[in-house]
Amino acid sequence: MSQKALVILGIESSCDDTSAAVIKNDTILSNITAGQAIHEQYGGVVPELASRAHQQNIIPVVDAALKKAAVSLEEIDAIAFTKGPGLMGSLVVGTSFAKATALALNIPLLDVNHMHGHILAHFINEGQAMPNFPFICLTVSGGHTQLVLVKSPLDLTVMGTTIDDAAGEAFDKIAKIIGLPYPGGPLVDKLAQVGDPNRFEFSKPSVGGYDYSFSGLKTSVLYFLQKQTKENPNFIEENKADICASVQHTILTILFKQLTKLASDLSITDIAIAGGVSANSGLRHRLIATGEEKGWRVFIPKFEYCTDNAAMIAIAGKFLYEKGIFADQTVSALARLPFERQ
Ligand code: KG4
Ligand code: ZN
Repeated sequence: MSQKALVILGIESSCDDTSAAVIKNDTILSNITAGQAIHEQYGGVVPELASRAHQQNIIPVVDAALKKAAVSLEEIDAIAFTKGPGLMGSLVVGTSFAKATALALNIPLLDVNHMHGHILAHFINEGQAMPNFPFICLTVSGGHTQLVLVKSPLDLTVMGTTIDDAAGEAFDKIAKIIGLPYPGGPLVDKLAQVGDPNRFEFSKPSVGGYDYSFSGLKTSVLYFLQKQTKENPNFIEENKADICASVQHTILTILFKQLTKLASDLSITDIAIAGGVSANSGLRHRLIATGEEKGWRVFIPKFEYCTDNAAMIAIAGKFLYEKGIFADQTVSALARLPFERQ
């Protein structure tokens, strides 16, 4: 007799995307995300506006996810939600919704660390190869840059992290200096594709261990552009693609230096990337090329599982469910949730 399928509703609301997903075992039935265009005019996410938009979006988004999955609320076995890290006001919306719904339906709650969700998105089953344990995941998002040693779905250790800005933050802040709208990362990526990555040289701050630093790069780009625009006010406009390609090349060189060092020190050859910046085409190409050179098996998420989404939260919740690790009604959102489970 076959075992009953496990149906999980996932909720993600840590930043500026309201997302709901329904999974059945390890396959996705639906994954619906509502973005928030309102922040564009401010050049960054405005927390108060984000939490208000989550409040407006959450019920329609969950409704749409259930409809697309053709699953009724009664068929859901558990609710997984992002407990943190993220913006407090945003997290509270998803957390409260998950708690209230789990209480009403009398089903278990699964509290997921957003960063674990990004990594465990590799286990969404779409017939692709999945990493073997242990593997290394370079997690690069707007708020984090981490080199994670993944020994099992529930045993994840940060081996290196940024001591200042995250890689996505570096993309976005430099994009802003160049005059690109928020979030600038995808636009830098697009322009970089037609630019010369070796045209300009920027500083590559190097830190000890497996850690990262990106704030020096941002400052070096700022000073360089200030100097150039004094001589030629159209410098940025005339050289935009080359600036973007050179900046992206520098960020990737910084990222890969520590990644290759860690992989070699630990003799690990299964290497994954995750998080919003893993959508970057230069990063994806460079991982494939480095993998060929070093004999790695590389794992690159599908675009829809790179940026924030609830499918990754649901799949991370599935691993908690299988181990019987449930949250209770006293659980609360944590803006600075420690990476390792307490
Ligand atoms: O993981 P994510 O969606 O949200 C956070 O948890 O932070 O990551 C968002 C970040 C932003 O900094 C955005 O600019 C960056 O990912 N990003 C990219 C690309 N797509 C998204 N950065 C560079 N190239 C891209 N194609
Ligand atoms: Zn994220």
